[in-house]
Amino acid sequence: MDIHSAVLAIDQGTTSTRAILFDHQAREITSAHQEFNQYYPRDGWVEHDPEDLWRTTLRSIERVLQGPSARHTRVVAMGITNQRETTLVWDRETGKPVYNAIVWQDRRTASECERLRQQVPEHEIQSRSGLLIDPYFSATKIAWILDNIEGARARAERGELLFGTVDTWLIWKLTGGAVHATDATNASRTNLYNIHRGEWDDDLLQIFRVPKAMLPEVRDCAADFGTTLPSLTCRQEIPICGVAGDQQAAAIGQCCFAKGEVKATYGTGCFVLLNTGSEPILSTQRLLTTIAWQLDGQVAYALEGSIFIAGAAVQWLRDELGIIRSAAETEVLARRLSSNKGVYMVPAFTGLGVPWWRPDARAAIVGLTRGAGKAELARAALEAVCYQTSDLFAAMEAEGLRPTSLRVDGGMVANNWMLQFLADVLDTEVLRPAILETTALGVAYLAGRKAGLYGDFEQFDALWHCTAEFVPAMDNSLRQQLLGEWARAVQRVTL
Ligand code: G3P
Repeated sequence: MDIHSAVLAIDQGTTSTRAILFDHQAREITSAHQEFNQYYPRDGWVEHDPEDLWRTTLRSIERVLQGPSARHTRVVAMGITNQRETTLVWDRETGKPVYNAIVWQDRRTASECERLRQQVPEHEIQSRSGLLIDPYFSATKIAWILDNIEGARARAERGELLFGTVDTWLIWKLTGGAVHATDATNASRTNLYNIHRGEWDDDLLQIFRVPKAMLPEVRDCAADFGTTLPSLTCRQEIPICGVAGDQQAAAIGQCCFAKGEVKATYGTGCFVLLNTGSEPILSTQRLLTTIAWQLDGQVAYALEGSIFIAGAAVQWLRDELGIIRSAAETEVLARRLSSNKGVYMVPAFTGLGVPWWRPDARAAIVGLTRGAGKAELARAALEAVCYQTSDLFAAMEAEGLRPTSLRVDGGMVANNWMLQFLADVLDTEVLRPAILETTALGVAYLAGRKAGLYGDFEQFDALWHCTAEFVPAMDNSLRQQLLGEWARAVQRVTL
């Protein structure tokens, strides 16, 4: 019986953990996924139990490797991609986390960010890390843990506590504590990493009060991150050799290799990454400058627009209001209406990201009349995702970088009505590829490339093809009217 080489990708996301096995031609062989609990201890706080992240990772790996389709494969490489910014601190000796993981959506450090903004010109931060002062990023979350858990700050200073984003936590666990490392894309989301010099920035560490001793070593996205303990990964010793934040991995999976190429992933939130090549562009429009990938020491940069709520608005209609049973119903409901009837949802449930950066903003639905019902609400939720993308495009245009087409992926892109509306309000072609698991594919590519199984960017690029194309068909005056009404709705939550 022939044994074929394969790559195992772990995608540890905000609501679930997924493991996918890819063959030597980067085709999916099999997958498994596991959801886990979300904790909301207070208004604006969001936490995960680090043990849940670990347990769901192990279980997904087991289910894939013990499944019948993995029988004739030899896993030559593992890639890890993850929800970014989410912050963990644990004891170097015992491996026990000192607090729950503070999730990227968590707003508990909003007032600390406000205080920092009074003290430090935001440009000082942006010119080093490419980011702004906001609770979204890891830095203030780390400081919160050190300030609120008894003895933590002193222990961190003595090097007894370790910090990591989720990739680092999983690498550390899978290697039995042998490797404490991250990759450049995840480091670039902490607000502590100098994206020009490619190192932790002492000034930023001082501003955010984070001891250097607790930080992981930063490596390339395709590099040696150690090997898994065979007792954890079905008696196989698997080299971990690809790591990237999930949005960067999606940009690779979407083959946005050329300057100017752009992707949007519509999951819990929506993240738009525009490849800007080897030069970081500092935004004047409050977009983020981030590392798209780092290979062989060479960095590619991206401009990013982050929208905190996309699919989560549809989940809210389903789980909190109970007006739909499945996300797919929103398409049927939205199609039923010939217009939005003046109803707009601003889904600022966890504040607003680019370009407003208002952690204090909260969601609103405006324009309701007595005749409005679930169709209007479903349509307003879908439209809101599109209007927010349009605001990001406007910011990119103001930087002189308006995209000419948009590659989309993520759970929401099954919704054809939404993609047509997106093309209409953006006045830009929207392309949906054949393979939608772009995040896992991107990191599988990084790991497979390092293991010598996959070739260079050109070879990988040839695998990408579009299966659905949405062409703008909306009259410009209607587009302007809708965008104007949306802007007025946003004003009501940001005043
Ligand atoms: O920056 C947060 C992002 O990485 C989360 O992505 O797909 O887990 O919602 P996702």
